Amino acid sequence: MANNEEFFKKVVAHAKEYGFVFPSSEIYDGMSAVYDYGQLGVELKNNIKQYWWKSMVQMHENIVGLDSAIFMHPTIWKASGHVDAFNDPMIDNKDSKKRYRADVLIEDYVQKIEDKINKEVEKASKRFENFDETLYRQTNARVVEYQTKINSINERYVKAMTNNDLADIKNLILELGIVCPISGTKNWTDVRQFNLMFSTQMGSTAEGADVVYLRPETAQGIFVNFLNVQKSGRMKIPFGIAQIGKAFRNEIIARQFIFRMREFEQMEMQFFVRPGEELKWFAYWKEERMKWHRTICHNEKKYRFHDHEKLAHYANAATDIEFEFPFGFKELEGIHSRTDFDLSAHQKYSGKKLQYFDPELGESYVPYVVETSVGLDRIFLSVLTNAYEEEKLEDGSERVVLNIPAFLAPYKVAVLPLVKKDGMPEKAREILADLQENYQCQYDEKDAIGRRYRRQDAIGTPFCVTVDNQTFEDNTVTLRDRATMQQVRIDIKDIASHVDQKIKESKQFK
Ligand code: GAP
Repeated sequence: MANNEEFFKKVVAHAKEYGFVFPSSEIYDGMSAVYDYGQLGVELKNNIKQYWWKSMVQMHENIVGLDSAIFMHPTIWKASGHVDAFNDPMIDNKDSKKRYRADVLIEDYVQKIEDKINKEVEKASKRFENFDETLYRQTNARVVEYQTKINSINERYVKAMTNNDLADIKNLILELGIVCPISGTKNWTDVRQFNLMFSTQMGSTAEGADVVYLRPETAQGIFVNFLNVQKSGRMKIPFGIAQIGKAFRNEIIARQFIFRMREFEQMEMQFFVRPGEELKWFAYWKEERMKWHRTICHNEKKYRFHDHEKLAHYANAATDIEFEFPFGFKELEGIHSRTDFDLSAHQKYSGKKLQYFDPELGESYVPYVVETSVGLDRIFLSVLTNAYEEEKLEDGSERVVLNIPAFLAPYKVAVLPLVKKDGMPEKAREILADLQENYQCQYDEKDAIGRRYRRQDAIGTPFCVTVDNQTFEDNTVTLRDRATMQQVRIDIKDIASHVDQKIKESKQFK
């Protein structure tokens, strides 16, 4: 774990040093759980967005896009259940004055026991090479003991959460002896529910301002526009509406960098289906979305499903696609079969019909919905943590490289004159101007060529094109591949087709 923490710190530092992610308002000492994307971060983020939009909207004739406003009528959040139930249980330590999510304190405690089990098994399996029955039995007994403890904590915790029994959650924290990591004491307040929505006022106070909320998800903007899109786009069920946009949550705990933020971006798609067909479509989207993620990170062991046993009141099936971040497997995307809960609730609260006339069945109904909902920032983090590598090279030197898949890389090509004279900069700029029509490129003439290659490795540029003396003789350049560091000589007119081919290949799941 210590190694993973160390690794994660390096990734965060690298992201800042090279202009991917900065702490927000840094010159004013920052704001917790709010981040800004720098010059490279915005490129990577845009590439992820475009890839999602293309896969979901462009490649599906029955899915269209939407860009709804962040501010919406406050009753929408009453109908959706967010005003009454979008809460996290929080607890304060009276000595450190720090606030925690009570459920996370318990989950972390359970995680520590799981880590112990893994360590125990790992240690024993090393010694099992010479099979020792006594050791085998002892390890087995300890694992069973730990597992029984985890099961009993989980059972009590789920029961307390289901019954909203906040007193028992506090009791559990006390009985487990969980201490505040800052003060080291068990001096806890009672557990209280804390609503995660940010609110503000719309209109001047003199006129009597209304409380409005910053949307905590983009999904509701889709639901309330369901009929507008269906009618104006003549959409036939099954069809989907996709949206990318900001969402805001007043998260109690702020940690793990951009994994859990107070302002973040979601990419959501609501797929409207016939009642009774939702589980078929749920299974379809579950597989589709997993396939999509695996085109981003080709190591399939980094992903897994986590099917929900305890379902939210509006869902009849739900799963998370989890990714193995340096801090463990965590939710990347949620896929939920939301029944007709949202449309029915908006129908009830607005008094307007939100039904679809199905010409094949000859009847009207409130469609059921299967939702795919992914955090853009979390994909960004998965790409970054998966890409960061420190390599020892054969000559004994080291390089830091970001192995970002070429199709997502902020810059596709760096164009470099070997030296800053003999017409090389001019020739390089000519090539740059051509390539820039199609790709985000960078021009760099400062420092020795080796250092420039390292700089491009560190920001994940898949190709470096270098103009040298030979360029003027035969119109060729060297093209260096980030992954292999191999250079080939290539005709200037072939650069674009080579880059295109490699970008295409980088998307393919092997
Ligand atoms: N409309 C359903 C919905 O919002 P969710 O599981 O609460 O479901 C969906 O959120 C996704 O949004 C998550 O899987 C995660 O990727 C992302 N997400 C949620 N809260 C986040 C936060 N505080 N910071 C960054 N991403 C977040």
